[in-house]
Amino acid sequence: MTVYSVAVVGLGVGQGHIAEAYAPLTDLFDLRLVCDLDEARLAQVYESHGVEGTTNFDDVLARPDIDIVDICTPSAMHLPLAKAALAAGKHVVCEKPLVGSLAELADLREAERNAPGVLMPIYQYRWGSGAQAARKIIDAGLAGRPLVGTAETHWLRTPEYYASPWRGTWAGELGGTMTTHATHIHDMLTWLMGPPEAVFGRSATRVHDIEVEDCASASLRLASGALASLTATVGSRDEYSRLYMAFENVSFESTRAPYAVGRGPWTITARDPELQAQVDAIAAETANVRERFAGQLSAFHESLSTGAPPPVTIDDADAALSLLTAFYRSSQTGREVQLPFAANDPARAGWTPATLTEEV
Ligand SMILES: NC(=O)c1ccc[n+]([C@@H]2O[C@H](COP(=O)([O-])OP(=O)(O)OC[C@H]3O[C@@H](n4cnc5c(N)ncnc54)[C@H](O)[C@@H]3O)[C@@H](O)[C@H]2O)c1
Repeated sequence: MTVYSVAVVGLGVGQGHIAEAYAPLTDLFDLRLVCDLDEARLAQVYESHGVEGTTNFDDVLARPDIDIVDICTPSAMHLPLAKAALAAGKHVVCEKPLVGSLAELADLREAERNAPGVLMPIYQYRWGSGAQAARKIIDAGLAGRPLVGTAETHWLRTPEYYASPWRGTWAGELGGTMTTHATHIHDMLTWLMGPPEAVFGRSATRVHDIEVEDCASASLRLASGALASLTATVGSRDEYSRLYMAFENVSFESTRAPYAVGRGPWTITARDPELQAQVDAIAAETANVRERFAGQLSAFHESLSTGAPPPVTIDDADAALSLLTAFYRSSQTGREVQLPFAANDPARAGWTPATLTEEV
């Protein structure tokens, strides 16, 4: 089996990628290099993992022995670093939000098309026994038509979290709790129930003294006709996530684990005992799947080895960024926004207040 050599760039959540996936999965990955501008953070990581470290991203690109560059820097840095890594011939893993607009996404898609490497956006919450069971039950045609869904991201963030200079700003974080936190469960919702075709959003900044929203709600109509409602905040004293989905024959309810909402056992309730036995058997098959970063990065390894598309693609990031674009445009204009956006829709330029002034 091919072992891919890896460099991790940005050592906040990057340490999570290392601890959950690259360090334990030595049969799949060889972590060789870590990169961070913060010398103290860098030294702590390279010393504890016995790997090389650099503060200079160009050193990462110049290393012919590195196969995968995993980008975990603040969000606004993803686009230039990902493009440079693709141009240097690397495979790229990149944290969410992948980039700051649909126009930037098109730019990155073009860069990937012209490069030998493959890019995989991170959406690790799909990897958990509950979410994987739901995916299999839906794929097997057992769930029937989707009816309604609810996605709740009720987390807690302190003023210290927002003291980091890039957080809480449009320029650094690219958005608020919808962009940084709730995007995970919304990715799961649209992955399992299908894409939205109409979005009404409301946003507010009520918890912290920051530029971006820290409370949000949205009402969606999906292309299937199903309806969904979303709420997100970073001010919930009871910190939890919850995904509920009613399909015609089966309903799914996640656990409340805020940072492992894909993990089972989910409450999966079927129309009748016979169907219940079938869905229970499928859920039992997924009970021991690898979770979160270990699950997604193992699946990435398999896709690289077989030449299949990565388990999360630029198209998945397109779905997530389209929802964000529609949400922000609606919350700013007070009008419902239809999806998908036309090729020349000005909304493709971005969702920050500065880019949203132009009317469609
Ligand atoms: N998937 C998840 O569950 C998850 C969780 C947290 C954060 N994230 C995402 O990961 C990214 C980073 O978030 P974080 O919480 O780790 O932030 P952080 O501020 O804790 O860490 C970012 C690190 O990147 C370093 N850095 C900045 N510019 C750099 C550059 N040019 N080259 C090398 N290093 C650089 C900083 O010094 C810092 O140590 C964000 O895009 C965020 O949305 C994802």
